[in-house]
Amino acid sequence: MAKQEKAMPRHVAIIMDGNGRWAAKRMLPRKMGHKAGAEALERIIEAARQLGLEHLTVYAFSTENWKRSVEEVGAIMDLLRLYLKNYLQKFAKDNVRMHVIGDISRLDADIQEQIRNIEEMSKGKDGMTVHIALNYGGRDELRRGVTALARQVQDGVLEPEEITEDIISQSLDTAGVPDPELMIRTSGEERISNFLLWQLAYSEFYFTDKLWPDFTEEDLKDAIDQYCGRERRFGGR
Ligand code: FPP
Repeated sequence: MAKQEKAMPRHVAIIMDGNGRWAAKRMLPRKMGHKAGAEALERIIEAARQLGLEHLTVYAFSTENWKRSVEEVGAIMDLLRLYLKNYLQKFAKDNVRMHVIGDISRLDADIQEQIRNIEEMSKGKDGMTVHIALNYGGRDELRRGVTALARQVQDGVLEPEEITEDIISQSLDTAGVPDPELMIRTSGEERISNFLLWQLAYSEFYFTDKLWPDFTEEDLKDAIDQYCGRERRFGGR
């Protein structure tokens, strides 16, 4: 009897890991790995859109990433500037909405402004939404959510007993977004590293040894097929 297949996921989350190792293998500076990673992201966004995903969340910069060298952080921020600028040209036209999760108040003022502009102008899009995690940490997101709820209790607009799981979900950066059914991490690491701690409670995980810049559209399809319980017969097996 055929195995029960699951429906396409609505939301896929990705930890894009391995840019540094990709560069090291080629004796290139780390920033070249991030550049290749940004190109891979562009390809994967397009593939996800064509597959009909509703939400794609990618971990671009964690609250821990500030510990990297000033040069590397600067290179990632410059890539981000370029990325946001390109969005205006490409994804906007493709009806892709962009939304940032994380505490952007620590980012440079020009990047914050770029993010606000893009979120504003992409609000009307009803295609796929790409959520970019920037200065994001799952614990920090929960801390900010808890603070906001505590303030509502203090102001007398919320009773402590009224705090349901749903209210907590709605206090997070992903309010209104369905939890990811599938989380992908590249580069052979098998940890969640403070990514979407609350939202990944029931997600399936897909780990691959591929380094992020080498991750292809086929790999995304493979991850989704595995999630759905579909058999893929590469090489006629
Ligand atoms: C992990 O690789 C990747 C990052 C910390 C940054 C992710 C950034 C991108 C994919 C490109 C930039 C995209 C945007 C939108 C800014 P790593 O450096 O931890 O790799 P390693 O573990 O091999 O050192």
